[in-house]
Amino acid sequence: MKNDNYKNSLLETIRKLLNLVFVLVIIIALLPFVLLNLDAIGEFFESDSTPKVAATTPINTETSTGVTSIYWTPPSFEQITDLKKLDLVFYGKELIEHTAKFLGPKGNVSSLTNGQNCQNCHLEGGTKIFGNNYGAVASTYPKMRARSGTKESIQKRVNDCFERSLNGKPLKNNSLEMRSIVTYIQFLGSNIPKGGKAEGSGLKDLRFLERAADPVKGKPLYEAKCASCHQSNGEGTRNPDGVEYSFPPLWGTNSFNDGAGLYRLTNMARYVKYNMPFGVSHDQPSLSDEEAWDISAYIISMPRPHKNTPTDWPDISKKPIDHPFGPYADKFTEKQHKYGPFTAIKEFYKK
Ligand code: HEC
Ligand code: HEC
Repeated sequence: MKNDNYKNSLLETIRKLLNLVFVLVIIIALLPFVLLNLDAIGEFFESDSTPKVAATTPINTETSTGVTSIYWTPPSFEQITDLKKLDLVFYGKELIEHTAKFLGPKGNVSSLTNGQNCQNCHLEGGTKIFGNNYGAVASTYPKMRARSGTKESIQKRVNDCFERSLNGKPLKNNSLEMRSIVTYIQFLGSNIPKGGKAEGSGLKDLRFLERAADPVKGKPLYEAKCASCHQSNGEGTRNPDGVEYSFPPLWGTNSFNDGAGLYRLTNMARYVKYNMPFGVSHDQPSLSDEEAWDISAYIISMPRPHKNTPTDWPDISKKPIDHPFGPYADKFTEKQHKYGPFTAIKEFYKK
C-alpha cells in the first residue's frame, strides 16, 4: 500500500513536471513573437476604443497581411537604374532633410536661408502621410495658383518656400541644388498618374471652431506641450554644431515670414493637430481640436519677419478665408480672417 502511494505520488510529480516542461517550451517558442510585438500588445491594452479603431486603418500600401491601403507611399529607390538620376535624387533628399547644412547661414554651398530645413514642415523627407508630403506635386504641377495668379512650375513653388517658409533668397533654376530638389520631388510622385491624386498628401482637414481661435488660451497649452522642444521664447534649439536646428523656431527672427503658407491659421492648425507634439500621426493625434486651434493662434500671434507681397492674390476674391491681410472682397475684419470664426466667411463665398 505504502509503496503504491509512493509510486502514485511519484507519477503525479512526474506528470506535473512534464506539464511544466510543456508550458515552458511553449513560452520559449512564443518569446520571440512576444518581444517583437511588445509595442502592439502594449497599444492594445493601453489605448481606449477610439485609437483602437484608428489603429486598424492600414497605413502602408502593402501591409504584412497583403491589404492594400488607401494612402500613397513613395516608390523605392531601387527602381532608379540611371545612376546620374540616382545621384540627383539622393542629393535632393539630403537638401530637403538637411537644407541648413548646404544653404543655411552656415551652409557649405551658399548662404540663402534662415537655417530651417524643408523637412521641418515637409516631414520625413516629404513622405509622411498628412505631414505636408510631396506625393501630389509631380502629378499636379505646373498648376494655376491664385496666390500669384499664374501657372507655376515646381521650381517656382520650391522657391516660394525658400523665400517665405525659409525667409530666404531663391535658388537659380539651373543650379545643381534646384535640379536635385525637383528631381527628388518628381521621383516621389512618379507613381501617381498625371492629374491624379496622392491620397494623404498635404495636410488633413480639421473642423472649424464655432468661435475665434484664442492665443490667450493657447499660451499655457504651448508652455505645457510644446516649449520643452521649441522653447518658451519660440526660438527653437540648435544642434551643438550650430548649423542645423534639432527643434526649429516657431516665431522670431529665424522663423518663417508672414507670407508663408504656415502663417495661415488653418494650415498651422492642421499641421499641428496631426503632427505635433513630434511623433504623433494623423490616425493617432494627441491634441484636441480646440487645443490645436488655440496653440496655433498663439504661435501666429507672435512676432516674425515680414515679407512685402504686393503681387499676391491679384484677384482679391480668391484670397483664402484665413489670409490675414486685406483688402478683401467681403466685409469681415483682418482679425476675423486671421483667427476665425471661419464658418460665416466660408458661407459668404459659397453664395
Ligand atoms: C515653415 C514651414 C515650411 C518649410 C520650412 C517649407 N515649406 Fe514648403 N510648404 C509649406 C506649406 C504650409 C505648404 C502648403 C501651403 C499652401 O498650400 O498654402 C508648402 C508647400 C510646398 C510645395 C507645394 C506642395 C503641393 O502639394 O502643392 C512644395 C513643392 C514645397 N512646399 C517645397 C518646399 C521646399 C523645397 C522647402 C525647403 C526649401 C520647403 N517647402 C520648406 C510649409 C513649409
Ligand atoms: C519632442 C520635441 C517636440 C515637441 C514636444 C513638439 N515639437 Fe514641434 N517639432 C519638433 C521637431 C523635431 C520638428 C521638426 C521636424 C523635422 O525636421 O523632422 C518640429 C516642427 C514643428 C513645426 C514646423 C516647423 C516650424 O518651424 O514651423 C511646428 C509648427 C511645430 N513643430 C509646432 C509644435 C507645437 C504646436 C507643439 C506642441 C503641441 C510641438 N511642436 C511640440 C519637435 C517637437
